[in-house]
Amino acid sequence: MVGRVDQSRTPYFDVLLDYVDSGVIPFHTPGHMQGKGMDPALRDFLGDNVLAIDLTQIRGLDDLLQPTEAIEEAQELAAEAYAANHSFFLINGSTSGNQIMMMTAVNPGEKIAIPRNAHKSAMGGLIMSGAHPVWMKPEVDETLHMDHTVTPETVRRTLDEHPDLAAVYVVSPTYYGVAADLEGIARVAHERDKPLLVDEAWGPHFHFHPDLPIDALEAGADLCINSTHKMLGSMSQTAMLHERSPRIRLDRLKAVVKLFLSTSPNLVLVASLDVARRQMATQGRALLQRTIDLANDTRRRLNEIPGVYCFGEEQIGKPGVFDLDPTKITITVKDLGYTGYEAEEILRRRYNVQCELADLFNCLALFTIGTTQEAADRLVYGVKELAREDRPIDVFSPSGVLERRLKTGTYALPKIPPIRMNPREAFLADTEFVRFKESAGRICAEVITPYPPGIPVISPGEEITREIIDYLRLEQRAGVRMQGPYDSELREIRVVSSQT
Ligand SMILES: Cc1ncc(COP(=O)(O)O)c(C=O)c1O
Repeated sequence: MVGRVDQSRTPYFDVLLDYVDSGVIPFHTPGHMQGKGMDPALRDFLGDNVLAIDLTQIRGLDDLLQPTEAIEEAQELAAEAYAANHSFFLINGSTSGNQIMMMTAVNPGEKIAIPRNAHKSAMGGLIMSGAHPVWMKPEVDETLHMDHTVTPETVRRTLDEHPDLAAVYVVSPTYYGVAADLEGIARVAHERDKPLLVDEAWGPHFHFHPDLPIDALEAGADLCINSTHKMLGSMSQTAMLHERSPRIRLDRLKAVVKLFLSTSPNLVLVASLDVARRQMATQGRALLQRTIDLANDTRRRLNEIPGVYCFGEEQIGKPGVFDLDPTKITITVKDLGYTGYEAEEILRRRYNVQCELADLFNCLALFTIGTTQEAADRLVYGVKELAREDRPIDVFSPSGVLERRLKTGTYALPKIPPIRMNPREAFLADTEFVRFKESAGRICAEVITPYPPGIPVISPGEEITREIIDYLRLEQRAGVRMQGPYDSELREIRVVSSQT
């Protein structure tokens, strides 16, 4: 027994197994009828077991939209494990979690404070909820060329300037594992009785080991989301949303969750959440200890390679770096003369190692409870070999823009442009395409995010300024990748129609 309830139980996985054991003859969806109707090419690869529990929500298997039986029990166990009042299983990732949090906490036209480097799914939340964003600037590290979190001071200033905010939304940790001072932020938000929503997609493991950053709920968040699939043992698309708040209306939250769920959820995914929770609740500390030790040891070995830098605890205390998740290893390769993209490709092609993410200067390696010593050794070997190759530093950009930026440390993003419409209005308005270089003064209808640093330069509803056009053209010439625009070459841009 752990806590009040028996965390070694897996009520939902168990009812699926019971259904299979009872040999019921299916006349229900899914149409593959427990694998019999599936093309053997896939069925033989997957095996019978996974298809036998790919069932639908018939009697006894409960209803994810309105759980009253085994799913309710499984969610209660999750809530107990995470010290939440209520936990909800999601099958469309933290993407839907971000949208649910916003649809729950803000009404059309109300303001929400949000960091400019929020994940793109948060823009979906703004568009769906009709909320008006009040952007907060995250701290940016000009040496690591990376954006971090927002500070409590930034949140306080934002609340001073906008006392009518309906909610505060932050991201912690970042993709690179940098955690915000969530306790400080919660204090500032709650002093004024504003709910704090936290995108903790990358922190589903935090609650289960004392050496990891404090988890969002413990720090005082009213709502938070965890991409359970990212760092724990559940399957892709699975996530959990946790609530612990006197400020959030539970009836509204439950109604919104329902809106975002399929009436035919994949029950294998639901079961994988049930067992991932058990694994963490009963063995999480030991499993994570091994993971943290392996990651720390690998970081140390990588840092011994000349020209390679993997940031660690020495960064704690810098602006926006309140704490770090040691299980993320950011391998900075710029002093080897490679871009992160090139390093990622070489590691994959020559050493069969695939990183989670590459940006201009870094590759990001994820260490989880599934990472083995052999895998870590292979990563170190690949990076060592990469570093041995002689490569002059001439690759960053044909135009020299990035070299100049690296030398001078200038990393200034253009100013956030004037907001002329809220994102929902701009997204739903009639739009047209105009030549990008002639678009100054128009209202943008899309998001444009150069990587790095991954901070949108312009979002729907904002006025395109000359400064933004010049900045993006420079970035483009430097080979920086742009996410978001319909025309990936950015010859044209989608703007709100002049007739609107
Ligand atoms: C910070 C952050 N929030 C939300 C998401 C969306 O999560 P999911 O892929 O589980 O939908 C991501 C995905 O990478 C993310 O990095």
